[in-house]
Amino acid sequence: MHSALKEAKRLSSEEVWRKTFTAEKQLNGSSPTNDEEFDRLGYKIIRNICDPKLLITSVPKERGIINYNDDGSIRDTQEIETQVVGSVARYTHPFYHKAFSVVKKRIEESINSKLYKTYYYDRFYFPGQDLQIHADRPSCEISVTIHCSSNLKDKWPIYIKSVDGNVVGVNLESGDGLIYKGCERPHWRLPMPGVKRNKIRKFFSKEELYYHQIFFHYVLSDGRRSHFAGDESKHGWL
Ligand SMILES: [Fe+2]
Repeated sequence: MHSALKEAKRLSSEEVWRKTFTAEKQLNGSSPTNDEEFDRLGYKIIRNICDPKLLITSVPKERGIINYNDDGSIRDTQEIETQVVGSVARYTHPFYHKAFSVVKKRIEESINSKLYKTYYYDRFYFPGQDLQIHADRPSCEISVTIHCSSNLKDKWPIYIKSVDGNVVGVNLESGDGLIYKGCERPHWRLPMPGVKRNKIRKFFSKEELYYHQIFFHYVLSDGRRSHFAGDESKHGWL
């Protein structure tokens, strides 16, 4: 077994592990596109998929989840981001409306398939935090994770298990995207480095180490999950 997969197994509960690989087995091949290579691997890297100017925002003071309405107002907040405890994540932050559309077009051109928007989610990770191995809900049929910004000097790959069984660690620069079939492909991050350095930085009142990533989610317009458009019609966008 690939060392990163072994480590993911060690860090996840049995239930999470089983759920992830049951989904992989049952849903493999359920999101066919017009891109033969993308279908064969289940993922695709597009460098410079989005202008970093449309992606970079400062680190919020809050931790937990901030949920936004379509008009940009805050709907509600949650104190803990349960998927990555200690991080701060935002559901459909208004700053990213434009990037959501720009990226949709880029993916449609790249995989030669029409998409509907579902939702997006950006997250600031801090040292020691990991993203447990998982596969996503139906609104994430065609997903992209794009690197926004970081003050971490180390590489911190996102891992994906491809259709052929290979495990790939992908390092992204600001504006680079990893497109993947979210419901089918197991993906994860091992703990973010910099725990000790971050403690020292905090002691000297320096900015915390962070790693900012955004996920844009879409469904295929002619696929079995097309009715999840607008994240099950919560939003008016297509
Ligand atoms: Fe995911």
